Amino acid sequence: MCGIVGYVGPKSTVEVLLGGLKRLEYRGYDSAGVSVINGSGTLETRKRSGKLSVLVDDIEQNPLGVAHIGIGHTRWATHGAPTDGNAHPHLGGAHKKLSLIHNGIIENFAELKSELLEAGVTFTSETDTEVAAHLIAAEYDKTGDLISAFRRVVLRLHGAFTILVMHEDEPDVVLAARRNSPLVVGLGVGENFLGSDVAAFVEHTKRAISVGQDEIVILRSDRVELEDFAGNKVTHPEFQVDWDASAASKGGWSSFMAKEIADQPQAVGDTLMGRVASDGTVHLQELAPLGNAIHSIDRIIMVACGTAAYASEVGKYAIEAWARIPVSVELSHEFRYRDPILTSNTLVVAVSQSGETMDTLMATRYAKEAGAMVLSICNTQGATLAREADAVLYTHAGPEVAVASTKAFTAQITSIYLLALHLANTRSAHSKSELQEIGRELLKLPAQISEVLAGLDPIRELARSYKDAKTVLFLGRNVGFPIALEGALKLKELAYIHSEGFAAGELKHGPIALIEEGQPVIVIVPSVNDPDSLHAKVVSNIQEVLARGAKVIAIAEEGDKAVAQVTDQVCYVPAVHRMLAPILTVIPLQVFAMELSAAKGLDVDQPRNLAKSVTVE
Ligand code: F6R
Repeated sequence: MCGIVGYVGPKSTVEVLLGGLKRLEYRGYDSAGVSVINGSGTLETRKRSGKLSVLVDDIEQNPLGVAHIGIGHTRWATHGAPTDGNAHPHLGGAHKKLSLIHNGIIENFAELKSELLEAGVTFTSETDTEVAAHLIAAEYDKTGDLISAFRRVVLRLHGAFTILVMHEDEPDVVLAARRNSPLVVGLGVGENFLGSDVAAFVEHTKRAISVGQDEIVILRSDRVELEDFAGNKVTHPEFQVDWDASAASKGGWSSFMAKEIADQPQAVGDTLMGRVASDGTVHLQELAPLGNAIHSIDRIIMVACGTAAYASEVGKYAIEAWARIPVSVELSHEFRYRDPILTSNTLVVAVSQSGETMDTLMATRYAKEAGAMVLSICNTQGATLAREADAVLYTHAGPEVAVASTKAFTAQITSIYLLALHLANTRSAHSKSELQEIGRELLKLPAQISEVLAGLDPIRELARSYKDAKTVLFLGRNVGFPIALEGALKLKELAYIHSEGFAAGELKHGPIALIEEGQPVIVIVPSVNDPDSLHAKVVSNIQEVLARGAKVIAIAEEGDKAVAQVTDQVCYVPAVHRMLAPILTVIPLQVFAMELSAAKGLDVDQPRNLAKSVTVE
């Protein structure tokens, strides 16, 4: 939520800032702005509501001066509508010499604003952010010391913030502070960077440092200093970004989402790499920090939001079946505020692509304080969640830029399968050879995903034919149920079509009343070889909705003749171990939503009202 970039160095600052914002635009895209201090030492600011392209066009037509220091912001509005005035940067002081950008929410802004209004300060925006700009400018005017003015004001702010500040009278330095919102430093040679995440600067440097909670960064071209809010020096180890800049570009695809769907064989393959031996044995070195405590886990609670929560729901079936440990999946924000029962034998698994989702962070902090072990499954190196957990299992999906999650989802499920098999190895519910056999099945997934991707033209065509649908229902049982939920979420967020996912067994308990002539229903059909004969039950569910006039699209296993007899709209996926099917069955649903969105002329990568990384509660 909101992307932040800062730069000090010899390159053309406007280009560095706009390039960084382009890569961060997925974090928010309702307005954007930059400030630079130009060659004559004057602060110049340009900000525009609308997508980043509006700002870029504006700057192209009326260029900013050559500069070697600057800050940039792309906004997801919280306080104040997305207008030019509310866009960041915000200027502070009587002479507007201070420029500030912010990600997060300053919870006590109303109180601070009253104080400033009483002192005669005039506000030009409706944001919570502007108070910080005026307060720092006023402190600086008193003492002429920007760092201590910054520190004093930051200590007065409540809530979540990453704030970057620069001042016309201090043209060599950008200051940054971080509490509860993400901030990473990029280390260059004779230049340094700040970003909400490494995507902001990965084009220029792969050396990075994650800034800790309640810390300040003093960024100059030749050095970077970190201190805590009390002014004590702090250091953090440098890490190497393993994303390639090209991985965060469209690479010839029509959208990031199209590229990321196609990336899935690699995302799943990279997530498996080095973790499954060729005989199928799974061993996760990453869990070593949990030590022997792993043997005494008596309960797992998975906390996540949105798509990551549906990945966790799939994982619950696998962990319970293979490791025989009871699992519950909870939405992070519900878990955090309901006084859950946690013990030192509870493993809380926090699943998050960004590793910065505030709800999930708050849930894990709460769990740690209550004495539970926390494992994070995360896709972003150096993310707060990864640093705060007792252990981290990275998904290796590479940068996910499209707002709707696709490859991170399949990589998350893959990681949870690995976790389930690792835990199963420490228990005795299944023989070693049974578990190895599943491990070998996992290794086949990348090739099977490629097969699914090669046969999606019929689903694309079907999607286009449902362009005017008002509502679409999704049904599934067992591991197909979370996939029904995920299919419905993708359609809501991308095509703005009302859609609901139901457990097929629940149909007769109410939802079947929604079925009328022509109602599209997408059904995830379990494997024909399902030992629990869920297949037959789902085929009966299909019959029930067909009898009431529904139009059924089935996602079924190759060779499923029973389904072909009841509907001619079938998308086939290769036969796999029944627990692994979600990795394949979700792909046609991702493509269905993407294609339908495109057919409606919508922006597939940046759906309305959303931001990729939800860094406020
Ligand atoms: C949906 C989507 C969201 C995220 C959710 C959690 O396509 O992307 O539902 O899954 O906001 O985000 P992370 O995984 O970053 O915690």
